[in-house]
Amino acid sequence: MSFPETRMRRLRRSESLRALVRETALDPGDLIYPLFICPGEGVRHAIGSMPGVFNLSVDEAVREAEEAAGLGIGGLLLFGLPESKDEQGTGAWDDNGIVQQGLRALKQSAAAKKLVLIADVCLCEYTSHGHCGMIVEGRNGLEVDNDSSIDLLGRAAASLARAGADIVAPSDMMDGRVAAIRRALDGDGSTDIPILSYASKFASAFYGPFREAADSAPQFGDRKTYQMDGANIREAMREIDLDLAEGADMILMKPAMPYLDVVRAARERVDVPVGAYQVSGEYSMLQAAFEKGWLDRDRAMLESLLGIRRAGADFIVTYFAKDAAKVL
Ligand code: PBG
Repeated sequence: MSFPETRMRRLRRSESLRALVRETALDPGDLIYPLFICPGEGVRHAIGSMPGVFNLSVDEAVREAEEAAGLGIGGLLLFGLPESKDEQGTGAWDDNGIVQQGLRALKQSAAAKKLVLIADVCLCEYTSHGHCGMIVEGRNGLEVDNDSSIDLLGRAAASLARAGADIVAPSDMMDGRVAAIRRALDGDGSTDIPILSYASKFASAFYGPFREAADSAPQFGDRKTYQMDGANIREAMREIDLDLAEGADMILMKPAMPYLDVVRAARERVDVPVGAYQVSGEYSMLQAAFEKGWLDRDRAMLESLLGIRRAGADFIVTYFAKDAAKVL
């Protein structure tokens, strides 16, 4: 049957009808809110390129987490700005490191500990050179060394789990890091801590504002020798297969909006939970349009998140988590 017997508009006549036939739902519990924890007390340092996002000292991070918990948000993704950086990124696996301190404080708060606390595992915020691994003199000059880096990532993951992380999330894109992290966790008594691997993470211009927020811009070169080329979806599927074979419990796709086809392909390929990260640049470009009055804030924000859910993401890491939860 077709027009005039069939009329698609019949099911769009009222909000209650539209709600009845709506295929995709957005729930605050599906949203993960990133926090950037910095040293000090009472610090709320605004990030210029990310309106509404702050570097927060541990005490302020706990307050922010309690608000997020009150809004029904599912979890937090924690990043750290250490007191000082060095060649090896020792702050990443220091049991007294900034995220470790944050985790312990969050676990003391009845409200905050209801959130799933996800610790990002990477070295770039902790290394003086800003790369996600160790730098060595290679055939073509300075290179990011894979195999020495994954040992350090394992140490970082074990330390974060000891401090109270519910999930560890490696975002470095070294080969073999999921297996190395699993070994390190299991060898340290953290057999029950899941790994959420950023399985396919593309070398993206959309991470620009994050690097201001996390003070993690590479001091030379770029991340293209470890993060993926934006043109490749088949390669993304291989990355996912390898991470699952190494023991990843869930995967995260990143960025989201320019890579929704990759999110969809991942969803159809695997049965583990799939998340997507609406990264800093996606957030900042929408915020810029809101500030100019060019887009309707609430509607564009929710539409951007709904699109990511519709593409197949079970959960979304987003800087809009609090704002979206308020609207929902
Ligand atoms: C660390 C890391 C980055 C992001 C998440 N983890 C930055 C990068 O790879 O340069 C980006 C997140 C965002 O842009 O919001 N490796």
